[in-house]
Amino acid sequence: MRSADPEGKGRQLGGHPFSRVVLVGFMGSGKSTVGPLLARELGWDFTDLDSAIEEEAGCSIPTLFRSRGEEAFREIEDRVAQRVLLECEVVMASGGGWPCRPTRIKNLTDDTLSIWLRVSPERAIERAGRQGVQRPLLNVADPLGRAKELLAAREPYYQSARWWVDTEAYSVDEVVRHVIDRLRSDPERPLRA
Ligand code: S3P
Repeated sequence: MRSADPEGKGRQLGGHPFSRVVLVGFMGSGKSTVGPLLARELGWDFTDLDSAIEEEAGCSIPTLFRSRGEEAFREIEDRVAQRVLLECEVVMASGGGWPCRPTRIKNLTDDTLSIWLRVSPERAIERAGRQGVQRPLLNVADPLGRAKELLAAREPYYQSARWWVDTEAYSVDEVVRHVIDRLRSDPERPLRA
């Protein structure tokens, strides 16, 4: 088994085999809302990848996209994520585009639990609008059309996450509860909630 946690530190916590959790999913899927609550339940740290990128770049994500372009953003995103993924006892909320490279989720170490938070394009747009966080990729004349296109292209990547939870069927607290219950009861079995 490949492990970023050779001492098995995470394994001593609560009897599950994971040292970190990575939340993946489309914009507006609730990664940044679920993440801190899940981290609190686990007694772990929480890192929001977008915030860590902003800290590293010294500017907001919309400014980064505008001034240096998406490719520069993706390079910083990859570098910062690699750093976070070396940590133990951490929940990382990734950005919606981070898992969408051929081997990104597949290359995660075995002690990293990836969870896809599922959302429809309609709900994603509604939530993204309510949050007031600017998403450069949705800043177009037809955001719903764009979200549908992006999600269709990205779903195959999100599907390679180990666990899936539908965030439209459950409240934020229920999403967290599903994950915690499965970690306690049967962490090796794929969760499809
Ligand atoms: C992006 C999602 C955003 C942010 C950036 C690009 C994407 O994060 O990383 O605007 O490519 O889907 P959230 O998923 O947290 O909104």
